[in-house]
Amino acid sequence: MPSALTASQRRRLVAAARRAAATAYAPYSRFPVGAAVLMADGRVFTGCNVENASFGLTNCAERTAIFTAVAAGSRRLRAVAVYTPTPTPTLPCGACRQVLQEFGPGVPVLSVCAGKGRVETTLAALLPHAFGPADL
Ligand code: THU
Repeated sequence: MPSALTASQRRRLVAAARRAAATAYAPYSRFPVGAAVLMADGRVFTGCNVENASFGLTNCAERTAIFTAVAAGSRRLRAVAVYTPTPTPTLPCGACRQVLQEFGPGVPVLSVCAGKGRVETTLAALLPHAFGPADL
């Protein structure tokens, strides 16, 4: 089971996710999302949702963030934060849970929003009995 984050790691990750939401390209849903991933090497990468006129091609913020990390040579995921400017927090969608699991099985997930609510959970809780590389 992954260890808990320090208060400063948490603050850094949440602030990065919040900033990333400002770059969201979400003209169709008008639902901007920002995500930040803390990697085991200490680096933080961010992502936003990127929509398309061909709606199904939309990429979620969480996948943008982890793909950015991997493309930069950083593969070991330590924690994820998601920010939406909504009254209640947003959790990663099913597709993103699976993609995140590949690089950080069971890691902490923090979801924060414009309201007071926040969810602190883990990928282990969000994606039980996950399929992964060991199953191949
Ligand atoms: N979205 C994300 O970026 N992450 C989530 O966890 C949930 C959904 C995006 C996809 C789409 O651009 C918009 O939010 C509405 O579904």
